[in-house]
Amino acid sequence: MPDDVSKHGMWSSRLLFVLAAAGSAVGLGNLWKFPYITGENGGGAFVVVYLVCIALIGIPVMMAEVMLGRAGRQSPINTIRALTERAGGDAWWPLIGWMGVVAGFLILSFYAVIAGWAIFYIFRLARGEFDGTDGSGANDAFNNFLAEPLEVTLWHTVFIAATVFIVARGVVGGLEVAVRWLMPVLFVLLILLVGYAAIYGDFAQGFSFLFSFDADKLSVGGVLTAMGHAFFTLSLGMGAIMAYGAYVPANTSIGTTAVTIAVLDTVVALAAGLAIFPIVFATPGLEPGTGPGLLFVTVPVAFGSLPLGAIVGAVFFILVSFAAVTSAISLTEPAIAFLVEEYNAKRPRVAITIGAACWLLGIGSVLSFNVWADVHIVGELTFFDFVDYVSGKILLPLGGLLIALFAGWVLPRAIAKEQLGLEQGWKWQVWTIGIRFVAPIGVVIVFAYTIYESAMA
Ligand code: TRP
Repeated sequence: MPDDVSKHGMWSSRLLFVLAAAGSAVGLGNLWKFPYITGENGGGAFVVVYLVCIALIGIPVMMAEVMLGRAGRQSPINTIRALTERAGGDAWWPLIGWMGVVAGFLILSFYAVIAGWAIFYIFRLARGEFDGTDGSGANDAFNNFLAEPLEVTLWHTVFIAATVFIVARGVVGGLEVAVRWLMPVLFVLLILLVGYAAIYGDFAQGFSFLFSFDADKLSVGGVLTAMGHAFFTLSLGMGAIMAYGAYVPANTSIGTTAVTIAVLDTVVALAAGLAIFPIVFATPGLEPGTGPGLLFVTVPVAFGSLPLGAIVGAVFFILVSFAAVTSAISLTEPAIAFLVEEYNAKRPRVAITIGAACWLLGIGSVLSFNVWADVHIVGELTFFDFVDYVSGKILLPLGGLLIALFAGWVLPRAIAKEQLGLEQGWKWQVWTIGIRFVAPIGVVIVFAYTIYESAMA
């Protein structure tokens, strides 16, 4: 390889790639989404399906994305295009990249709205609004806020602006600083919250809700939700990790980093669950199936009853907001890199354009919680539900399926061996079976099961 670098820049070390990828993976998916969908889907059995999907589908697909990105060193669309040509594959494969751009766009539109809630909560806690609050107080405060579209839009706008600002500064300048310091602090505060839950919450019940396997509680939809979330939480299926993979130094071990990132991400999600559910069960007026507001009603109750809770709680939401920014950036990277390559456009301009478009689409999600609460796009789904459904339950798993098939069957084996640093041997066998069979068949089984069972119902 003559010039083994990307024109968009390179991570300055292996560690920084791990931090950036972990920064992408750890976000609202872990802190906001995982607890609330686990609550809605009955707990333990759902968590087991999610963990199985992470291990059997998530890790192979993550390795595939990093590997393809590094082999191509361009935006996902152009990377797949170039690799397809090298392999003499079908000209349709770059569609993976295009689907990813669409998925990233859809996800960021609602992601920014929820992140806006988190920013607002920084100020709410800092003002001491929740001092001594109980479950119903926290519920009312949350619902009153959501009922105000202008207020919600304001915070949504703040978040989009912050994301655009960092994205415009480029891969290394903006991103590395954010992840290097904030991720570790977030982790410490999360542990603190788990400690609170263990002392003041109903830890035993929270723990058993998360971890006791009761297959009866798992609905058909729950299986697809769990698989979709495995992709969402690891940032897989739309090329975000592929785009980041393009900036990875040649000597980084792909297998080790993928496992590290997956483990970190899972630990954060489980810690969030262990912090939130004990509080839910110990607080009158709160219940696990509350929906998207779960994080925003439990955490204020906890901090509201602690000494210095207003300050520490505000810091907690600062960190949630930063975790969201480091994820949001990665949602834009495939589109940004592509536009820069195709039109030689400047990053700042591209960033502003994409930010503006996401902002506009996000208004639909803002309104889903108030003015449009009764507007249903299909079935019972509000605009927010619909965008979440299409991106998370269709586009990401489908993208992941195609990425696995491409990496397993189309990519020349010599490239895979070189990228993974593997010769024949058991590791190579495990990889081959995982990417050719286990991951794709896993996705297909969940899709087929969901369609079959819903048709029967
Ligand atoms: N993984 C992030 C989270 O859990 C969200 C995210 C960032 C994402 N980039 C992505 C989801 C790419 C899907 C695809 O909050």
